[in-house]
Amino acid sequence: MTTPRPPTRNLALELLRATEAAALKSAQWVGRGDKNAGDGAAVEAMRLVLNSIPMDAEVVIGEGEKDEAPMLYSGERVGTPPGPEVDLAIDPVEGTSLLALGRPGAIAVVAAAPKGTMLDTGAGFYAAKIVVGAPAKDAIDLGASVADNLQEIAYALRKKLSQLTVFVLGKPRHDGLIDDIRSAGARVTVQPEGDVAGGISAALPDTGVDVMMGTGGTPEGIITAAAVQALGGNMLMRLDPQKEDEKANVLAGGFDLSRVYRLEELCSSDQTHFAATGITDGPMLRGVRYNSSGAVTHSLVIRGQTRTLRFVESHHHLDKLRTISDLDY
Ligand code: FBP
Repeated sequence: MTTPRPPTRNLALELLRATEAAALKSAQWVGRGDKNAGDGAAVEAMRLVLNSIPMDAEVVIGEGEKDEAPMLYSGERVGTPPGPEVDLAIDPVEGTSLLALGRPGAIAVVAAAPKGTMLDTGAGFYAAKIVVGAPAKDAIDLGASVADNLQEIAYALRKKLSQLTVFVLGKPRHDGLIDDIRSAGARVTVQPEGDVAGGISAALPDTGVDVMMGTGGTPEGIITAAAVQALGGNMLMRLDPQKEDEKANVLAGGFDLSRVYRLEELCSSDQTHFAATGITDGPMLRGVRYNSSGAVTHSLVIRGQTRTLRFVESHHHLDKLRTISDLDY
């Protein structure tokens, strides 16, 4: 008889407190028209919690370079070693203008992966992406037409094209893409911001989103890739600079604009950890709600090792938040 192995540590459950803290703090800025204040509050809160976690972590996708970002900048070391050596991709507020305008879909996000496994995309700010869930993982090809991709995905999901929903950011650069999706016969959900949530919705079952397509932030792409790895879905990405200076920097960095990065190149490990907490209400997660005793948060926690997916509802007591320490919940 074999002795059962004891359960191992789940870092994602600890990262959850960091995204909850970021959401709780930034939620105080929802709809107040100041995205920097909301982002700053989230960064500060997230950093405090990350630094309390036993891990030896480096922020590889962060708030920017050290000179422009005082906290959680790319290259900053966080955590309390000893602990696992991990790289972190963070976005304390994904959808800063959604937060500032009180619109749906703002989330706080952290992804962790074993050291050295997340792609460094240099000066590439924007990338074209396509994301699907596990059942359609072999159906995508960034070199093929939109119609061909959608047909293959629909076939893999055993759906009609007219039953397929594609998440696209509502940016002028996507006018042609949206036309192509509609001409192919599929449905589009056009959202103003937040393609991390869009990509994760596509990789999760039963969210109402089957595919995420279009060009968005490259850092957001790496965060998404870590989550997609943990979920067993698939993602492809190609750098897609939007301005001449960005293009020049990307080319000077030796990047090939025609190269399609596979999921295993974006994040080469499936032993990833991911946590996201809703700041404002969204299709995937509810936002922070206040009640007479405190605040309620909704989060998604994913662990690649076991592919366990948890939706966590946490009730935070305001009294405790006030009397013990702002973030000791
Ligand atoms: P921020 O939270 O940094 O504002 O990002 C929101 C977002 O919509 C991302 O989800 C997306 O990848 C990126 O912006 C797209 O960039 P842009 O708005 O410049 O097209």
